[in-house]
Amino acid sequence: MYKIAAIGGDGIGPEIVAEGKKVLEAAGERFSFDIGWTDFNIGADQYLATGRLLSEEDLKELSKFRAIYFGAIGDPRVQPGVLEKGILLALRFYFDQYVNLRPIRLLAGVETPLAGKTPADIDFVVVRENTEDFYVGIGSRFKKRQKTDLAVDRELYSISFGLDIESDAEEVAYQIGVVTREGARRVQTYAFDLAMKRRKKLTSVDKANVLSDIYGLWREVFTETAAKYPAVITEFTFVDAITMWFVKNPEWFDVVVTPNMFGDIITDLGAMIQGGLGLAPGGNINPKGTSMFEPIHGSAPKYKGMGVANPIATIWAGSLLLDHLGEHEAASAVVSAIEQSIKDGVVTRDLGGEVGTAKAGSYIATCVLKGK
Ligand code: IPM
Ligand code: MN
Repeated sequence: MYKIAAIGGDGIGPEIVAEGKKVLEAAGERFSFDIGWTDFNIGADQYLATGRLLSEEDLKELSKFRAIYFGAIGDPRVQPGVLEKGILLALRFYFDQYVNLRPIRLLAGVETPLAGKTPADIDFVVVRENTEDFYVGIGSRFKKRQKTDLAVDRELYSISFGLDIESDAEEVAYQIGVVTREGARRVQTYAFDLAMKRRKKLTSVDKANVLSDIYGLWREVFTETAAKYPAVITEFTFVDAITMWFVKNPEWFDVVVTPNMFGDIITDLGAMIQGGLGLAPGGNINPKGTSMFEPIHGSAPKYKGMGVANPIATIWAGSLLLDHLGEHEAASAVVSAIEQSIKDGVVTRDLGGEVGTAKAGSYIATCVLKGK
């Protein structure tokens, strides 16, 4: 019996997680394990009603689980950044989920915008560092323009401080990126271990030609770690160049390890070459703690409750979850079932089909049960 926490979240989140649960339960039935779900009410509704993003109690409860199944957060009633930082990033950081695992794989039957590329060409994994870099939240803004409508205030300011308070030219903002030796080492080690299980090629991403301090350290650690894995072929790429190669020669890549922010950017590009955001799963992994599995897309509030969202990214994230629990056979059965549903044309609108979220999910669950 696996106890798994579920956070549907906002927008389409609850609908797609419902389909993911269906499929994972089907996998349990076929491969003889049980899943006990515990649902958590976390997201915009809860925030708007109580002012709470994540309570101490939520975190304490969640830490009892090895895995969290996460839908999406983000809601037009809440300022951008509040839920993202207060919930999603807070969970990644609190549970020290230092690996953000994002497979980029073109499934059979899915169209890629890359002319002439087939599933044989697009099959790699991005290992995104998930707790450092520009995501640590060190920054500030100052010398903000004083806002005043009163002529007398304006007068006072210009006399006492010699400031033109109508001018905003002085405002300053900064945000700092951090790479630590251990932070780089642990995620790169994970990537090397993964490469050893795959085609034994590892590409490191950085921008060491400009941001030479933080990514200089990243490179140094990579070179040291590589020495422990002589069987793995390694290379360095700059982030700007890799966006080009993802499009031109995706077949070159096997495992790609990247600092946090570049990883965020290049995995959206990755999602497109694998057929769209509706197909891109992610795992936030702490190999020794609580890990969290989610689609990489957002909450798509305009589709909320319409039953049209593609559940595949979430179901595939469920497959990553099963893999993480050691249910490897079940994990690959889920991906095969996704492929089968695509071959059979039982797909949502974004993939050119007509079926709704629930029907697409049920079909995949049936394929898992039948071993298709
Ligand atoms: C992602 C998302 C998040 C990120 C946002 C929502 C904070 O874009 O998972 O890729 O930047 O990591
Ligand atoms: Mn992103």
